[in-house]
Amino acid sequence: MALLQWSDELSVGIDIIDKQHMILMRAINLLALAIEKNSERELLEAIFKTLADYTVTHFAYEEKLFDHFDYPQSIEHKKDHQALRDKVSVLKDRFDAGEDNLGPQVLKFLVEWLTKHILGKDKRYASFILEGMERQGKNLS
Ligand SMILES: [Fe+2]
Ligand SMILES: [Fe+2]
Repeated sequence: MALLQWSDELSVGIDIIDKQHMILMRAINLLALAIEKNSERELLEAIFKTLADYTVTHFAYEEKLFDHFDYPQSIEHKKDHQALRDKVSVLKDRFDAGEDNLGPQVLKFLVEWLTKHILGKDKRYASFILEGMERQGKNLS
C-alpha cells in the first residue's frame, strides 16, 4: 500500500490544523509499514492506540474551535467525527479480542476516510475559522 503523502492540496490554511493532520498521516504510515513488515502484535497494538488517541485529541481541538467561533455546520461535522471515533473503537476492540488480520482493512478505511474528510469537511470550515481568528487577532499556529 502506498504511503500517504502530504501535499498542498491537503492544506486547510490553518497551520496548527495542518500540523495535526500531518501527525495523523504519519501515524497511519507507521501502521502501514508495521503491517508490511509483519511486525509483532505488540507494536501494532501500540501504533493503533497512538492513532486512536491522537484522533480523539485532534477532533477535540477542531470541535473546540467550532464552539469558540460558533461554526454553523458544527453539528454535522461533529457527527462525522463521532462516526469515526465509534468505528475506530470497534476495530480496536476486535483487534484487542485477538483478530489478527485486521490491519490492511483498517488501513484502507483510515486512508480513505482521512483524505475525504480533510478535503471535504475540514476544508469547508477553514475560511470561517480563519476569519474568526483574524477578528479576534488570534494566532493559533
Ligand atoms: Fe481534521
Ligand atoms: Fe474534522
